[in-house]
Amino acid sequence: MDGRLTLTWLIILLVIISLHSSGWVLGTFHENQSGRRKLSAKEGFISIDCGIAPGSDYTDDETQISYTSDANFIDTGINYNVSKEYVDEDTDQQLMNIRSFPEGDRNCYLLQPGQGKNHKYLIRAWFMYGNYDSKNQPPVFKLYLGVDEWATVNITNASVIIRKEIIHIPTTDELDVCLVNAGSGTPFISVLELRQLNDSIYSPTEPGSLLLYDRWDFGTQQEKWSLIRDKDDVYDRIWRPFTQSSWESINSSVVRSSFSISDYKLPGIVMATAATPANASEPWRISLDIDDDPSQKLYIYMHFAEVEDLKGQIREFTTLVNDDEAWGGTVITSYLLSYTAESDYSMSGSTTKKLSFSLKRTNRSTLPPIINAMEVYIIKEFSQASTQQNDVDAIKGIKSEYKVSRNWQGDPCLPIKYQWDGLTCSLDISPAIITLNLSSSNLAGNIRTSFSGLKSLQNLDLSYNKLTGSVPEFFADLPSLTILNLTGNNLTGSVPQAVINKFKDGTLSLGENPGLCQSASCQGKEKKNRFLVPVLIVISTVIVILILIAALAMIIRKFERRETKEKSGNSEFTYSEVVSITNNFSLTIGRGGFGQVYLGTLADGTQVAVKVRSESSIQEAKALQAEVKLLTRVHHKNLVRLIGYCDDGTNMVLIYEYMSNGNLQQKLSGREAADVLNWKQRLQIAVDAAHGLEYLHNGCKPPIVHRDMKSSNILLTETLEAKIADFGMSRDLESGAFLSTDPVGTPGYLDPEYQSAGLNKKSDVYSFGIVLLELITGRPAIIPGGNYIVVWVSPMIERGDIGSIVDPRLQGDFNTNSAWKAVEIALACVAPTGMQRPDMSHVVVDLKECLETEVASGRIQMVGSHLEDVPVVPSTESAPHAR
Ligand SMILES: *[C@@H]1O[C@H](CO)[C@@H](O)[C@H](O)[C@H]1NC(C)=O
Ligand SMILES: *[C@@H]1O[C@H](CO)[C@@H](O)[C@H](O)[C@H]1NC(C)=O
Ligand SMILES: *[C@@H]1O[C@H](CO)[C@@H](O)[C@H](O)[C@H]1NC(C)=O
Ligand SMILES: *[C@@H]1O[C@H](CO)[C@@H](O)[C@H](O)[C@H]1NC(C)=O
Ligand SMILES: *[C@@H]1O[C@H](CO)[C@@H](O)[C@H](O)[C@H]1NC(C)=O
Ligand SMILES: *[C@@H]1O[C@H](CO)[C@@H](O)[C@H](O)[C@H]1NC(C)=O
Ligand SMILES: *[C@@H]1O[C@H](CO)[C@@H](O)[C@H](O)[C@H]1NC(C)=O
Ligand SMILES: *[C@@H]1O[C@H](CO)[C@@H](O)[C@H](O)[C@H]1NC(C)=O
Ligand SMILES: *[C@@H]1O[C@H](CO)[C@@H](O)[C@H](O)[C@H]1NC(C)=O
Ligand SMILES: *[C@@H]1O[C@H](CO)[C@@H](O)[C@H](O)[C@H]1NC(C)=O
Repeated sequence: MDGRLTLTWLIILLVIISLHSSGWVLGTFHENQSGRRKLSAKEGFISIDCGIAPGSDYTDDETQISYTSDANFIDTGINYNVSKEYVDEDTDQQLMNIRSFPEGDRNCYLLQPGQGKNHKYLIRAWFMYGNYDSKNQPPVFKLYLGVDEWATVNITNASVIIRKEIIHIPTTDELDVCLVNAGSGTPFISVLELRQLNDSIYSPTEPGSLLLYDRWDFGTQQEKWSLIRDKDDVYDRIWRPFTQSSWESINSSVVRSSFSISDYKLPGIVMATAATPANASEPWRISLDIDDDPSQKLYIYMHFAEVEDLKGQIREFTTLVNDDEAWGGTVITSYLLSYTAESDYSMSGSTTKKLSFSLKRTNRSTLPPIINAMEVYIIKEFSQASTQQNDVDAIKGIKSEYKVSRNWQGDPCLPIKYQWDGLTCSLDISPAIITLNLSSSNLAGNIRTSFSGLKSLQNLDLSYNKLTGSVPEFFADLPSLTILNLTGNNLTGSVPQAVINKFKDGTLSLGENPGLCQSASCQGKEKKNRFLVPVLIVISTVIVILILIAALAMIIRKFERRETKEKSGNSEFTYSEVVSITNNFSLTIGRGGFGQVYLGTLADGTQVAVKVRSESSIQEAKALQAEVKLLTRVHHKNLVRLIGYCDDGTNMVLIYEYMSNGNLQQKLSGREAADVLNWKQRLQIAVDAAHGLEYLHNGCKPPIVHRDMKSSNILLTETLEAKIADFGMSRDLESGAFLSTDPVGTPGYLDPEYQSAGLNKKSDVYSFGIVLLELITGRPAIIPGGNYIVVWVSPMIERGDIGSIVDPRLQGDFNTNSAWKAVEIALACVAPTGMQRPDMSHVVVDLKECLETEVASGRIQMVGSHLEDVPVVPSTESAPHAR
């Protein structure tokens, strides 16, 4: 016996090692998901010096900005140095090298700004041709932001430096900056920068992004061509010295930080100098050159601060456009304090063919007007359309998992002209992928779950690749999929019955897969095929032996108990009863993997959720029936109760208690402020769910592994009591059926060990840890953009930054100790190996403690939050000059 066991373990080890080396064992989040998010030295800054050696970075001596190579932001392109004759000691290091894109119509940098979508960013791209390709042919090409055209880059001269800058609020967490070949030379780029702005500044009154027209610093003595890029400008704006002969310069002897008192945070060096009209009785004037397109809509920002100690004199003036129309109000300057006049409507020269701005002193003013700095932007409305986020995440997953070697960059569907090769999309405002042709694309490995994310897919062609492993069952669950072509791969095992059923009259091509069993006659062999994977055989053998020896007597007892119980309780319904309960399926309340879910009412008035699946096979029905019988006996206040079922051979119906508050995932992603769960409610939900799971693991005989624990499987009652739902995937441990190799579980929640260890109690603990992280952070398991929540949260945990870990919608209204404790529990649950993860019974105890900490601190917090409710008296200091 001993010897055999040792041998068995040896075999297990060997198998695991060989699987590992063949790449079969995959780490779900061990792959470097975080690779793209490179933290810059300065918070909110992304600074990319395009074209330097991959992986290198440096800090610019003058600006103190840390530049990084573009290797983490783009996959395509070739690095070049510009020609020597365009480099001298004054040339910025960033401009000495470029990345050029000879291949592909569209090449995109993928930026992930730290604060994510719906925040304001300044994005700036630089171009200096410098004859890098020795062809002396400066190109003309297009710059895109996401799916919208941002600018045309017209390089007229090899030494000219072109700068394109925009203030933009992205609607997705990831932002593509794309260079598009317009047929007039190869696109290239020198530098790409992104800076986070305060959301309260540069806010035009109409929708659109602000393209920089120019940004001037007046009154400076610096050379005209040099740029002022001061270290003190927290937003890294670049100011251009500008003066005219009709102006005079005045300056302040002190450069004080009080200049930056407003949210515009204007740098002292810019605000310390100003322009004033040379003739003190004339207005100050500037004209904009808008000849090329007078219909452009401009937004003006004028920055003022008094630079002279006025000693009782008054400097007051009105802001006029085209000499007569007042636009920005009357300004009274005050010493060393900055004030910004901004237009509350856009201005264009379309009627007057000119745009000039003047500052005219009022009758009572004893001094001429001054102006320190001015910014002019052109407003441009972006469509902001993009492919549905789920589809983007799924197709990007497919791209990286299979290392698809196509020019797949930017938005998959938009603009249609640059749609990814091999895709077609629906033509909605937010398009979805409807066909995907990856025939003969050298895809190797298993069919990954990413495909199941393409919910609108109708036609999938994976023919003539090197795909191995089994045909996954999720194909049966893709609602619109009608054509599936898997011809010419190396798939093995048998085709799941659900897949065969789904494509009964559609087209399913499975030819030229020598190891694949397709006929009904091999249904018997199916079991064997499933267990082909040797590790599973061995583990199951071991477990079965152990269980047999350890628990034989117990099992017998349990089975006896089960027999007696099964006869009690009438949980079987007829189809006609189901029809009447649901009032002929009149109200749909959801759609699950199983099928449609309807609202029903039992004879006693109890509301129920009725899940209906038609066309179940006989075999499936039998398995389900056995399981359903088991589940109708599982009762716990934190488990959604299965009230009954109906199975008449063609229809499979499950009847559950109805949970009026929907599922936790919906609740957490809800946008309504009223929907935001407070910290205590979140902890209570965690405790409830932990109780439910603990009962499945330790309270049920035989134990039940949930196998698909996730926030959408936690339902909430009217009073926000949480109950775990969907045991559809559950298997009791002792039947051994849990060793199925079907990829159950949901990406983002899946135990990284599941391939080697199968799904067990500890996989549920892992998934529960992910749910806990969702509750804490308010973010989904896979952050839009593809980052796993664990990866996303770790740097913040390392920094000890609880403030940015916890859901910002809580607005800091939580007890820090209890939040840390919750984070610790979640981290323990998501430990990489099952051995390291706690049992659910410990999780329950710890979470309860955590909740107690929060409750104990409740009174203090309430006082605090009342204080915050006191209305804030608007400070008059920040805008004292406008009238
Ligand atoms: C993964 O990314 C992190 C941070 O971006 C980096 O420190 C680490 O070296 C990377 N690991 C691998 C294997 O590339
Ligand atoms: C550019 O020049 C630097 C040093 O001057 C050199 O190390 C680098 O290899 C060059 N890059 C290319 C692409 O030629
Ligand atoms: C690029 O600029 C030059 C000079 O201003 C102009 O002649 C040319 O038409 C421009 N090209 C494009 C495509 O706009
Ligand atoms: C390019 O521009 C620079 C300065 O803007 C100028 O000195 C030079 O003569 C120009 N070269 C050509 C070929 O036009
Ligand atoms: C933006 O400005 C407001 C008001 O001064 C300030 O409360 C807030 O913290 C600023 N936000 C950022 C991101 O700096
Ligand atoms: C301020 O003006 C004086 C002369 O009036 C000049 O010498 C000095 O350089 C100016 N300072 C700045 C920062 O422009
Ligand atoms: C200044 O402007 C006033 C009014 O426009 C004019 O009368 C006066 O001659 C000007 N002074 C100089 C020195 O140009
Ligand atoms: C300022 O003076 C001018 C000319 O003397 C006069 O027409 C105008 O009404 C005065 N404006 C105010 C606001 O007093
Ligand atoms: C599946 O793909 C192969 C190769 O592309 C093709 O010959 C075959 O007709 C396809 N089958 C279906 C049903 O489209
Ligand atoms: C298919 O896989 C088997 C083993 O899994 C291997 O022996 C065979 O060479 C593969 N066939 C092809 C065409 O790759």
